[in-house]
Amino acid sequence: MTLIETVKDLRAWRKAAGHVYFVPTMGALHEGHATLVREARKLAGTDAKVAASIFVNPLQFGPNEDFDRYPRTLETDLAMCQAAGADMVFAPSVKEVYHTDRSIQIQESSLSKVLCGASRPGHFDGVCTVVAKLFNLVQPDNAVFGKKDYQQLAIIRRLVRDLDFPVEIHGIETVREDDGLAMSSRNRYLSPAERAQAPALRAALVKAREAWLGGESESARLLDIIHQHLAQHAALGRKDYIALVDRHTLQPLPTLENDGLIALAVFFDKARLIDNIEMVR
Ligand code: PAF
Repeated sequence: MTLIETVKDLRAWRKAAGHVYFVPTMGALHEGHATLVREARKLAGTDAKVAASIFVNPLQFGPNEDFDRYPRTLETDLAMCQAAGADMVFAPSVKEVYHTDRSIQIQESSLSKVLCGASRPGHFDGVCTVVAKLFNLVQPDNAVFGKKDYQQLAIIRRLVRDLDFPVEIHGIETVREDDGLAMSSRNRYLSPAERAQAPALRAALVKAREAWLGGESESARLLDIIHQHLAQHAALGRKDYIALVDRHTLQPLPTLENDGLIALAVFFDKARLIDNIEMVR
């Protein structure tokens, strides 16, 4: 596996690479990320190359979100990428990616205003800007994103559509612990009591989905199932949002025929957990 740190070296690698499957990350990798690289490897087969990036993007951190304290674990991240089948990792410095007098940035004006975006103004503009730059630099034919951050996935699909990037986007299923909790680097901040309650998030989503498949189509009733389940089984958590939306536009749906998404975010003492479930027949 090759480690590349400069745009110049990346461009030279890209010239000789052929088809490329790309997995952008911010590092601090866990099993969920390793799965993305392994899935990229499977999709790429033996002919195409798998590239990952490790770059903590300052543009997607708000003023109260501590960019400086984000974990940097390059050595273990590289070992994980290699074991999962990456051919190349691009791990540039901030200086290498952003000019100090940069003056152009991407703005998303619809999908980023709801769900997590409602409380993180500018976050998804920062994500769009860095992903557009990484797409321009790595020039992948395909890119792989997790469904755990479904809003990000939907926004990246919109970015590719609206700005005509010739990149096929693959959404990969969320990797879960045995008890259903979605893997996240934030799970380590849960107390033992919170950790015991956290699987209720997934269980509540599954219950709502079963009710929908059983014939309930009123969003208010489906969301109520989740509220009740969390009140009973995750009392240590405090709801940030629970919403039933169209899975492409992320706009709220009063009733659900098909093609929906229930997404939620719950605060525990030191961790805010997100999860979602596709409501698709
Ligand atoms: O999902 C992430 O880790 C980041 O938002 C991404 C897509 C790598 C952009 O910085």
